[in-house]
Amino acid sequence: MDSASLRRAFSRFATGITVITTRNEEGTACGVTINSFSSLSLEPALVQFNLRKESTLRDFIETHGFFGVNVLNANQSHLSDRFALSDKSAKMDDIPLRESTFGLPIFSDALAVYECRWKKNYDGGDHVIVLGEVENLHLGSGAPLLYYESRYARLEQTE
Ligand SMILES: Cc1cc2nc3c(=O)[nH]c(=O)nc-3n(C[C@H](O)[C@H](O)[C@H](O)COP(=O)(O)O)c2cc1C
Repeated sequence: MDSASLRRAFSRFATGITVITTRNEEGTACGVTINSFSSLSLEPALVQFNLRKESTLRDFIETHGFFGVNVLNANQSHLSDRFALSDKSAKMDDIPLRESTFGLPIFSDALAVYECRWKKNYDGGDHVIVLGEVENLHLGSGAPLLYYESRYARLEQTE
């Protein structure tokens, strides 16, 4: 099994897309595109996602102590592209942001936003599994942005 085949097989699992946001030591808003997000527990309210070990956001989240999970809508693929770049800061000036309880940069137009308190990172090979407790919620509306076989997709709803 080579890594290209594994990557291709992993891409057969359709997901939504989130942008995880926080602030760095200078207070600058930062974000990273993540499709490995999932809900974990209702009581307590826990979520998780997988982050590349070398990602600078790893330190920013631990230092700030909070992160936002912004679930993208079908018209926000440009935000997914933007936050998949290595430069993690100074990319939010033109994005409508909403007031956050914890001072996080969170997107006004997202389908849902979970404001999370960082709990712990677990080892996961070349990634870490980031665990957070949901402290605050915002619900938007619209259709989701999907990701399948390394391409954006839209939901075709059946009855
Ligand atoms: C649709 C999509 C989903 C992604 N999901 C993840 C993910 O779950 N975990 C991750 O570490 N990187 C993921 N990435 C890649 C990161 O967004 C990208 O590596 C990062 O922003 C680049 O910065 P870095 O150099 O700090 O990794 C994804 C990229 C895209 C386009």
